[in-house]
Amino acid sequence: MRHRFHSICPYFAMFPETFVQKHLTASRFNGVVFDPFCGRGTTVFESLIRGRRAAGCDTHPVAACVTGAKCDPPTLLEVIRRLAELEAECLDWRAERDMGELAEFFSLCFAPETLRQVQFLRQALDWRSDKTDRFVAALGLGALHGESHRSPNYFSNRMPRTISTKAAYSVRWWRRHNCEAPERDVFSILRHMTGYRYRTPPPALRGEAVLGDARDAGSTFRHLRGHVTDVITSPPYLDTTNYREDQWLRLWFLGEKATDRQARGDGRHYGLDSYHSFLVEAWAGMTQLLGGASRIVVRIGGRRLGKDEAMDVLHESLKAGLGRSTRLLDAGVSSRPKGSQANAFRGARPSPTMEHDFCFSVTG
Ligand SMILES: C[S@@+](CC[C@H](N)C(=O)[O-])C[C@H]1O[C@@H](n2cnc3c(N)ncnc32)[C@H](O)[C@@H]1O
Repeated sequence: MRHRFHSICPYFAMFPETFVQKHLTASRFNGVVFDPFCGRGTTVFESLIRGRRAAGCDTHPVAACVTGAKCDPPTLLEVIRRLAELEAECLDWRAERDMGELAEFFSLCFAPETLRQVQFLRQALDWRSDKTDRFVAALGLGALHGESHRSPNYFSNRMPRTISTKAAYSVRWWRRHNCEAPERDVFSILRHMTGYRYRTPPPALRGEAVLGDARDAGSTFRHLRGHVTDVITSPPYLDTTNYREDQWLRLWFLGEKATDRQARGDGRHYGLDSYHSFLVEAWAGMTQLLGGASRIVVRIGGRRLGKDEAMDVLHESLKAGLGRSTRLLDAGVSSRPKGSQANAFRGARPSPTMEHDFCFSVTG
């Protein structure tokens, strides 16, 4: 059975666990598996399930929270106890009523009592330093919005599960389709999802997920220096998202200010030159972690990124960043991301993004 922690929360450009399985099986190594752009943690978690030590980092709070929850979870009993404690505290907690410029969005997105419970959890969960709270927060992120007309396990009015649609767009859509926010009890849903997720027990091995930059991996994971033999990763895609605008409601739930506006200078990579420089710095950041010989698998993507260009930018940046001998083992498949942006809420819009897979051996 597929492990139920895998799907705790969807994420943009996540790769399937079969991708990780395939490359772990193909590897002759047995050291630590590392993902410097871990996203929702598919590489780290699948490696742990397969008995491999694993770690990863990501600059995105949603990614760090979800990966951390999966790869270093509390016990089932700890989650159940914490939920009971939170529910009791929430009973007479008073919510901040002023939701600012997004007040209309919030009043249509959540029924009043559901919104109060969500706001309570937002300020009560210490997800950055407590692993039980992090697990509850990850469950909350997965249930925060979704196709609530199809499932009783989402808190919000009808929304895609994969991305948080912009506030004004959502309001227009709900009004046009006469959609009302459902009355959902957040704690009942979280209890139900806890039971559901723990039906597949957590793996015996624990992994590490850090909210941090790939470029600093060598110092963040000092204790792993020389121990990593497999890297399975996908860096941010060229000219697509910076992973924040599509997750704005989840970022709010994790404590950030509510805004669905895209910031300028947002870290998005628009041109091949700056993308190349970023990748050089990222690979340089992890080179100290690699053992004498290792295998690096990269899924790379972008709107205007053809396969040859992708291979060049990747191979050149690996050589420059790692400062070691790198050899292309497999210029694998190219494909379009499946089901990333198209859904009933936003209309069917095929993605213009292409993804390319490559595998390198590294020595020296
Ligand atoms: C293509 S996604 C990875 C998805 C992942 N493979 C999965 O299955 O969920 C790229 C990730 O890189 C992260 N990212 C962007 N810049 C970063 C940086 N400088 N350091 C670490 N992570 C970064 C983004 O937040 C995003 O989660």
